[in-house]
This record gives sequence, structure tokens and C-alpha cells, in this order.
Amino acid sequence: MNYQDLKTPSLLLDLARVRRNAERMSQTARDKGVRLRPHIKTHKCIEVAKIQTEGHDAAVTVSTLEEAMAFAKHGFTDITYAVPIEPGKFAEAVAFLRGGVKLNLLTDDAATMSLLDEECGRAGVRFDVFVKIDCGTHRVGVEPHTPEAIEIPRLISEAKNLTFAGILTHAGHSYNANSNEEILAVARHERDSMVELAERLRAQSIEVPTVSIGSTPTMSLVDHLDGIDEIRPGNYIFFDNFQATLGSCSFDDTALTVLTAVVHKNAAHRKLVVDAGAIALSKDRGPIGLDPGCGYGRVLDTDGNDTGMRVTGMSQEHGEIQAGDAAAFDTLNVGDRLRILANHSCLTAAQHSHYNVLDNGNIVDRWEIHRGW
Ligand SMILES: Cc1ncc(COP(=O)(O)O)c(C=O)c1O
Repeated sequence: MNYQDLKTPSLLLDLARVRRNAERMSQTARDKGVRLRPHIKTHKCIEVAKIQTEGHDAAVTVSTLEEAMAFAKHGFTDITYAVPIEPGKFAEAVAFLRGGVKLNLLTDDAATMSLLDEECGRAGVRFDVFVKIDCGTHRVGVEPHTPEAIEIPRLISEAKNLTFAGILTHAGHSYNANSNEEILAVARHERDSMVELAERLRAQSIEVPTVSIGSTPTMSLVDHLDGIDEIRPGNYIFFDNFQATLGSCSFDDTALTVLTAVVHKNAAHRKLVVDAGAIALSKDRGPIGLDPGCGYGRVLDTDGNDTGMRVTGMSQEHGEIQAGDAAAFDTLNVGDRLRILANHSCLTAAQHSHYNVLDNGNIVDRWEIHRGW
């Protein structure tokens, strides 16, 4: 099928780029001597995860237990659920262990660990638990130099029904960098602060089996990973307008676009409206700090070339494009197709049911997206 005949809006996934992005990160992991445990929340797709983990041990990271369930059903049996666990999800998590799936949990809360230990005692199971460390993002996690960064690992190590899996961080603040040098500085800090904490824990006789780090910007630019056991980048498999503007990749690496149709043209105001709005693209402003005119994504022609236009406004089902002096505007009419390179591919993908897989200009497959919580 020719992709221009697809119903719009639809996701187009460039298979060659996915394979190339996967191979590059896979090589980084091999060269730097670490396990690759990609975060699959970017795509939520079994086929993409299989490409990503080729030649590795099929370990993955998820952000919802629904993703974990879908992946477990397809043979991924070593899964880290990388959102802090809370008691309301204990029973669901226990069911994974009972089903033979190694579901690793993470926490930054001592009281929750005591409750989990008791629950495991009752259920007759044992979880591997990471302590989430905040290396600068200030979202969740304990800061490495606080007493909790030693106390919570000790509590888990001494718990009857828990195994301390190690320490885990995500340098989400790398997305606020303004240059490759700044990303590299965050990457080094992410690595060094975790290696240093692991050393302090070991000096206190607390065994640290795994030091786990990684975001797409930091893992795309980091110089070495000595002292690190595992990396968990996710977005690199698709990249997006944010990553390309940030410098983690080039625009030619971006693998996911939204095919959309022009539904309105106002020649006097040089404005187009397309049928990809907020629920087809997401409202993420991504690189606005670096590119104030980024809008909600770049408007590409059907071959994937940048038209110079941006999605400048949106409502639920409408994407507005103020074309300015872009020459492409004059050739476009209602019914014509365009492709949008959205700012944040993870949020865009999560709004759709499937990918249309594009290879050499043809749709060669349709891959399901496993959404939900
Ligand atoms: C805990 C954790 N690990 C890994 C990742 C992957 O990061 P990225 O998408 O930048 O590669 C994320 C993303 O939010 C995360 O929250």
C-alpha cells in the first residue's frame, strides 16, 4: 500500500531509521561494556523492542504495569518498572513474579519498602528493588548525598523478603541543556555521582549489584561508562524534533512522523489547517527553550523534506499552520498530505493504536502500540 492512501492522521514509522538508531545504541552499549535495558515507553511495541534488543539479553524498562503485561506475554521476562512502586500496585506486581516474570521495582520511600516487605512475606515472593536516585532532575528519587541514599539501600538489603537490586537514576535534566557540551557535562555528572554513591554504599558493606543510568541525550554523547552496569535510554529509537534540535541526533535520524491531510486553506492569511491536532501530535513544546518558533512540530512534505513551516497552533483535532513566506504553502490545497515531525515522539506515539511501518516508500507492516496503565 502507498502510505499516501492511509487514513489520516496516521503514524508513519521509518523502518530503516529505527534499525539504524537501534544499532547505534546497541554498539554504544557493547563498546562501553554495559547492559542495554531500553525504556520501551517510547514505542510500547513488541516488534520495535525486538529490534532494539537484538544481540542483547531482552531486558527492558517499562513505565506502566500494562506495558509490563504486554511485554511479558511476548517473552520479555526481565522487566524493570521504572516508576516508584506504591502499595496500590503491590498485588498486580506480585502476580508477575507468580507468573515467572522477573519484575524489578524501584523506590525512594522507606515506609513503602517496609509495607512491600510485609506483603512479600504474606505472598511468599521476593522482589529485586532499586533505589531511585535524583542526580539533578528533581522529579523523584533521593539525592545522592543525603542520609536516605545510604539508609534506604540498607533497609532493603536487610529486609527479609526483598533483594537490593542497586541504584538507578535518569538524567531528565539533560533535556534542559543548551549545547552538546552541556549535555556531556550532565552525562558525566549522572555517571560520576552514581559511581561515587555505589562506592560509598560498598564501603558500608552494602552490596550494589547494578548501577543503572541513562537518558537519550546523555547516552548519545557520554564519553565512557566505567563503573556503570546498565543503561536505559528510550527515546533514541525514534528521536524527534526535540532531540534533533538539542543535538542528540540529526534530523535524518528521526523515525516517526504523523501523516496528515490539509482540511482548510486560507490564502489571504497564508494559513493551513491539518487534521492532526493535540490528540494526534501531543501538546509538548519540546525544544521551545532552544527554538522559540518550534511550535508543535515541523511540517514536512510527503517525502519527509522540511517545508520550513511549523504547526503553530492546535486544538483537539485541528493543527494550525501559519505558513509565513514558506514557498510550499502556494502548492498546497485541501486534501493534500503532509507529514509532521512532532516535538516529542514518546507522547505522540502514545496517542495512537498502531504504527504503519514504512520501508522504501511502502507500507510493509502494521505494529500494535500497547497503551494504558
Ligand atoms: C526512569 C527512566 N529511565 C529511562 C528513561 C528513558 O529516557 P529517554 O527517553 O531520555 O531515553 C526515562 C524517561 O523518562 C525514565 O523516566
